[in-house]
Amino acid sequence: MTYQAVLFDLDGVITDTAEYHYLAWKKLAEEQGIHIDRAFNEQLKGVSRDDSLRRILAYGGKSVDDAEFARLTTRKNDNYVEMIQAVRPEDVYPGILALLQALRAAGKKIALASASKNGPFLLEKMQLTAYFDAIADPAAVAHSKPAPDIFLAAAQGVGVDIRDCIGIEDAAAGITAIKAAGALPVGVGKAEDLGSDIALVPDTAHLTLAYLDEVWAALH
Ligand code: BG6
Ligand code: MG
Repeated sequence: MTYQAVLFDLDGVITDTAEYHYLAWKKLAEEQGIHIDRAFNEQLKGVSRDDSLRRILAYGGKSVDDAEFARLTTRKNDNYVEMIQAVRPEDVYPGILALLQALRAAGKKIALASASKNGPFLLEKMQLTAYFDAIADPAAVAHSKPAPDIFLAAAQGVGVDIRDCIGIEDAAAGITAIKAAGALPVGVGKAEDLGSDIALVPDTAHLTLAYLDEVWAALH
């Protein structure tokens, strides 16, 4: 049997919002006297809002009380939400719309497996909501990526066995989550960040239905 569903990460896979997350975290970190760069940011990709702040504070050797922690995550999100107001359908990464259309035409289910609570808002902004059969709720899962929970919830949302799913990710934490869930991982990015043991494309323009079919067939 071939795959029945594709589970998409959003930030850095469907559009360039991974960059906005980075800029918003960098600004917040600088305000706290903590300097983060793009290399450090690789560890934040795919990671939930709270876990991201925990990693930044640990990196800077700082600790804050619960009230301050909540104030900081809210501050980061307010800044991020301001940045994404201008996201438009034109911002969807190359090849993604064509892939969504081809998957639908092929009868595959499509689900969102993003850690972001801003996912539904972004799909609306990009006019992609109608392509998704399910959007897994990151607030409803016990553990965030690299745990498998959000991918399991996405597969469940479309009623497909996780072993019949492909997961697409740009982050190391996300690839780990897909593997732990039992789906077939496809990475967008470099082997040095995502590992050399999985199917990788350098950018989303390479994500075609034919490519996914090929990757699946090679392993089944
Ligand atoms: C992931 C991003 O998709 O969502 C992370 O890769 C981000 O960078 C996480 O921290 C949570 O997003 P949000 O929008 O709920 O803060
Ligand atoms: Mg991502």
